[in-house]
Amino acid sequence: MELENIELVATEEIEKCDDLDQLNETRVKYLGKKGLIQGFMSKMRDLSNEERPKFGALVNKIKAAIEERIKIAQEKLEEKKINKKLESEAIDVTLPGYKFNTGVIHPLMQTIEEIEDLFIGMGYEIAEGPEVEEDLYNFELLNLPKDHPARDMQDTFYINPNVLLRTHTSPVQARTMQAKQGKPIKVICPGKVYRRDDDDATHSHQFMQVEGLVLGKDISLADLKGTLLEVAKKVFGNEREIRLRPSFFPFTEPSVEVDVSCFKCNGKGCSICKNSGWIEVLGAGMVNNNVLKMNGYNPDEIQGFAFGIGVERFTMLKYGIEDIRNFYLNDQKFLNQFKGVK
Ligand code: DAH
Repeated sequence: MELENIELVATEEIEKCDDLDQLNETRVKYLGKKGLIQGFMSKMRDLSNEERPKFGALVNKIKAAIEERIKIAQEKLEEKKINKKLESEAIDVTLPGYKFNTGVIHPLMQTIEEIEDLFIGMGYEIAEGPEVEEDLYNFELLNLPKDHPARDMQDTFYINPNVLLRTHTSPVQARTMQAKQGKPIKVICPGKVYRRDDDDATHSHQFMQVEGLVLGKDISLADLKGTLLEVAKKVFGNEREIRLRPSFFPFTEPSVEVDVSCFKCNGKGCSICKNSGWIEVLGAGMVNNNVLKMNGYNPDEIQGFAFGIGVERFTMLKYGIEDIRNFYLNDQKFLNQFKGVK
């Protein structure tokens, strides 16, 4: 290439460069140690003394001009690179946001948490017991000796003649009494229980209960009624009333069935309360003297009440759920309805 052409050709080439790598290649081609400019420099040796300075000055001028063009091109390409990056990182704030899937607290757990909050607020402790339980705690110490006909009320999964899946949370009463050795008690015991039932819309072989037990001096049926009224109001609404009807449980005497005024029709009568205005919600009573004695308490000094809440029943009533099996199917469409209920 002629020295006269080189600036023009280099300029064209520099302007064609699309990125910094290409520009660098071009720089090396013209200005590198083995580059074209260097090639002309080494030709100077062959020139005469007069020609050499003129030629040298010209080469240097062209070299400086190419350097300058490269510098300008480099700045432009760097700016282009930054703009490209900014463009790729740009956020369109008008786009709709991403939807994050949040989980749901299971409706049964929501009911349990609601009940726990209420009782903790009233000074209760939470007690727990094993689901694989001894016959002793599940039945015997609750005034249900072997062959007692009331054992039939609770069809039992036996593991061996003395070990079973607990049929209710009441054995935690006996365990707590044994542990507290005659001292006052205020506990609730939430947990799973098991019955040898065929599953249908209202029965399940496994369900949940919250047991309650209060022992102390001068605890009466009125205290039980006041406590359960608080539960009814918390779970079913502030306007609720309750009534007690006589019933039978081996571990309580007297025993009561507790009804809550219908939250659907406010007591006027509807399909939910079968036109009675009342809905049966739980069993309760004053702790039977036999139970107190068997578990180390003197009935002349200390007495109290107990109750057993069916968590599924409460939840079904509260939300109008008609089939208990819904709770165990893990159907997202069912569960998602309880988002933000609490
Ligand atoms: N354990 C009873 C059941 O599962 C429920 C119950 C009734 C518990 C009365 C109690 C009570 O503590 O006093 O059917």
